[in-house]
Amino acid sequence: MSKYTKVIVAFLLSISLAYAAENEKVNAMVMINMENGLANIQKGFLYNNIGMIKEGVETVSKENMIYHDRNVIRSILPENKKQMENLALITSKRIDNATDEMKSYIALKQMKNAHNAYMDIVNACTDCHVLVRGW
Ligand code: HEC
Repeated sequence: MSKYTKVIVAFLLSISLAYAAENEKVNAMVMINMENGLANIQKGFLYNNIGMIKEGVETVSKENMIYHDRNVIRSILPENKKQMENLALITSKRIDNATDEMKSYIALKQMKNAHNAYMDIVNACTDCHVLVRGW
């Protein structure tokens, strides 16, 4: 490798490392927001505060949209888990379905069914964490 090539390689490597670190930061923010939404849903059910439940569902469904993109999913999976891309994508689609379901049940005032949909969300979150963390 010439000196020149080495400089270019080092430069490209540093860009890709910076990019990976940036992805991780963005992902952590999204996860914290989703956790916040989920906590509001749970509190809303406990305190019988439908406004809080609605706010929480909106947050989760909005934040989850970023994971509709395969490239994003691939970027957040650890190196040795990239082959799990499809499974991870499905957990995010399940969150989509469950938040839609929750909204419909809330509109119908069927709170028990809305709560079941909330449990589906928690299970989908956990299933992606199972993949990512090798649980
Ligand atoms: C598509 C995969 C995926 C889905 C779906 C997912 N997560 Fe995560 N989550 C991750 C990854 C990747 C990390 C970072 C690695 C780790 O913590 O093991 C993470 C980390 C977290 C963390 C810890 C953040 C930190 O800073 O330590 C929280 C909290 C979290 N997720 C909440 C949620 C909630 C709530 C949901 C569901 C509404 C959810 N996640 C759904 C992949 C996912």
